[in-house]
Parts: sequence; C-alpha cells; structure tokens
Amino acid sequence: MEEVIRSKGYSTNQVKFLEEGEFIIPGFIDTHTHAVQYPNLGKGGQFELLDWLKYVVFPKEKQFKDHNFARDVFHDVIRRSLDFGTTTSCYYSSLHLGASRILADIVNQLGQRAFVGKCNMDRKDPENPHYVEASTEESIDDTLRLISHIRSLVPISKHASLGTFPEPLVQPILTPRFALSCTEECLFKLGHIADAHDRARRGREEPRLRIQTHIAENPREYREVVEKYPNAKGSYAKVYEMHGVLRETTILGHGIHLTDEDIHWIKKSNAGISHCPTSNFYLTSGIAPVGRYLDEGLKVGLGTDVGGGYAASMLNVIQNASIASKMLEAEQRERDSRGNNSDECFEHTEKHFTNRKFRTETLLYLATLGGAEVCNLAKRTGSLSEGKSFDALVVSILDETGALGVWGKEAKSQCPSSEVQRIEKLEENLERFLFCGDDRNIRRVYVQGRLVGGKAFRDSPVNGY
Ligand code: GUN
Ligand code: FE
Repeated sequence: MEEVIRSKGYSTNQVKFLEEGEFIIPGFIDTHTHAVQYPNLGKGGQFELLDWLKYVVFPKEKQFKDHNFARDVFHDVIRRSLDFGTTTSCYYSSLHLGASRILADIVNQLGQRAFVGKCNMDRKDPENPHYVEASTEESIDDTLRLISHIRSLVPISKHASLGTFPEPLVQPILTPRFALSCTEECLFKLGHIADAHDRARRGREEPRLRIQTHIAENPREYREVVEKYPNAKGSYAKVYEMHGVLRETTILGHGIHLTDEDIHWIKKSNAGISHCPTSNFYLTSGIAPVGRYLDEGLKVGLGTDVGGGYAASMLNVIQNASIASKMLEAEQRERDSRGNNSDECFEHTEKHFTNRKFRTETLLYLATLGGAEVCNLAKRTGSLSEGKSFDALVVSILDETGALGVWGKEAKSQCPSSEVQRIEKLEENLERFLFCGDDRNIRRVYVQGRLVGGKAFRDSPVNGY
C-alpha cells in the first residue's frame, strides 16, 4: 500500500491508511535514554556535559539506591514512554544492581520492548568521589547478576512470546557509561563477556548481547578521553575498539565530534549511532553530522537521551533532528554562497544526506527502522513489513481535543477522491502529526500485538489510571 520511505532505497510499508485522518505507523524506537534521569527533566541546561554530570546528574542518580524511590520513578517513566508511542527503548539505569533489576521488572510488567543496562562506573574520579562503584570486580559481578536476572524474567502474557523470533521483549545490555567512567580492566572484561556470549550462541538463533555507551559528545570530554588513553593515539572510537567493546551490537550515543578515524573504526565494526539532537542542543554539545553518517553507510537511529534531552517524547526528537539537519543545510548554503557557482555546487552534490535537510520520510525512518537497525532488531521490529512483530501506533489527527485541534477537523472535511490524493493527504497528515502532534493523537500503542498504551488504553476503565 502506501510507501513513504523512498529515499536511499528504503522501501517498506511505513504508514498504513485507516480512514481519513487516521493511520498506523511503526512504534518509535528510543535508542538512548536514562530512566534514572527523568526526575531531572528540564534541569541544568546552563551546564555543558562534564559539569552537568557532576552537579545535576550524579547527585540524582545516587538516590536510586532507595528501591521505593526507584520503583515509583520507573513506573512513571515506562508508562509515559509507552503513551508517547515508544515501543522499544534502550535504558541506562544507575550504577545500582537493585534499581536496575526493578527497572527490568517494571518494563516487563508494562510490556515494552526494551534493553536494560546497569552503568559500569568503576574509575575513581577525584571530581566525583561519591558516585562510583566499589571495585572493578563488583562492577562486573553486578553486571553478570543483572544479565541472569533479566534472562530469568517470565513474560507477563502469552502475547509476549508471539512471533517467529525467540528474542524476548526485555533484554540485558552491557552499559560502560563512557570511557571516562570505566577502567581499562572493566572495558576489557565487558568485551570478554560479549565475546563469550557470542561464542556460546554460535549457530543458534539466540539474542546477542548488546552494548551501549556514549562517544564524542563534547569537545572537553573528547580531550580528556584521549589524554587518559594515550594508546588510542587521539581517537575516541579506538579506545572502545582496543578494549573489544566496539562491535556490531554496540549503540553509540551522540557521536557529534567524530574524526575521520573514529568513523573508520565505527564503520569497520558496524556499530550504530544514536542521534540525540534535543540533548545535543540543550547541553550545547553541538550538531551531529548524521546526514554524513548515513551517506557513509553507518546505522543511525534517534534517542531522547533524557535528561540531557528535556523531552521524553520521540516526537520532540524528530522535530529537533529536522532542525539540526536544516541548520547544517543553511550553513552549507552559506559556505557555498561564498564560493563562485555556489548553488550549482550544492544542488549537484552526489550525497543524499550530507548537510541536507531531512525529508519527513527520512525522519520517520530514523525514529523507527533506523533505530531497529541500530539495535540489531530490524528482523522483528521497526516497520510494518510482514513477518515482524506488530509494534505499532494508531494515530488520529481528528480529535479536536488533541494537539492538532482545528486542523483535525480540516482533515476530515477534505476527503480525497483519488488514490494519489489520498497518499498525498496521508503524507501531509503524517508531517503534521510529527511536527504538531503529541500524545493525545496517539490512540493505541501495540507491542508485539498487545495493546499497552495510548489514549484509548488510558480511557479504558480496565486500564484507567
Ligand atoms: N556521558 C556520560 N554519562 C552521560 C549521561 O548520563 N548523559 C549524557 N548525555 N552523556 C553522558
Ligand atoms: Fe546519555
């Protein structure tokens, strides 16, 4: 039926028409978020990364030692995330094993597809003496305990075991927070755990152990990393590569200031990039050239990066990804206009995405299938193609109480008569939803065929809350 992803050979059923003003799209995939930072939303935007971690983030994350606090926060986080249409999420917990177990339990109960990781933070840092693990041994032991705990979770409903793939909904993910928070020994050991896991599953259709971390988010961070790891000879990506944690299953948050050498290592490993533009703006980190990464053939998805990102909704991230791409295009135009035959040179570039504004279908791709590729989950989610799990959103822009208000009415009154008009209308409605919609327009959220969120779910007396 309607195909709207056409650029770069992506061609898959992404948007299905239901009736005027209503359509189905694949669920959003948040490839990078910190469940423990939701209480910090909209706090600390005056800082840049390392001071923000020190003054805003670490003091809050310390509180997750308290299990009751953790339970309350995580319940809200997962409910909100589902209602915003996020069907798959990659969660960083705190450094605590207890809180991380609770997070996995709640995700499992509420039926979201997710990866849950406990932060490895075993490097002693005189700047942050109060939020650090006791030893490398404890960091690794707790990581292994969390993996066993998550693997032993029983899916809450028979729906959760549907599908052709044995991959469970909730899975563990190794989470070395970033190069500055881990010792070399810890990184090596995590690489060995990933190796051992890959060896053990050889030949069997079993889930792979993913890894998530941050990379090249901020210039000062980059400088400190290459100073601390002189053997990496100036490359941040090489630090991860040298220790065996840069792999096909690795999700790299941010990647704003990557050098050509970094890109080389990332490409070689086939790791993916989680583009977090809301956070990148909020913490004045910069604009990631993700158009270039797409042209280089890297896997790219989107992430909220709560609480670096001030919004839990992927719609906000889509909007900021659009703005980021438009700023890069405007800068490119400016550079070109200083040259001689500027426009010509810009218009005829061979690149599809480098320094070009993203089209609506590319934004939708990044928020769905791109994210699935980054998570190595594209066989089972990320689009409405046959054979995948039904992870999807029913969207309505008709509801006058919804964010689109009066435009919703307009959508209803202009019934397209031909198939072509109908597709055009659908594309227009999609753009309006992505830029002006909110959770009121998300009526139903399905994960693996099970209704787990959305306005209709909330309004039902059984699920009402
Ligand atoms: N780098 C290391 N930890 C973090 C974090 O919690 N958020 C962001 N945005 N960057 C980080
Ligand atoms: Fe982050």
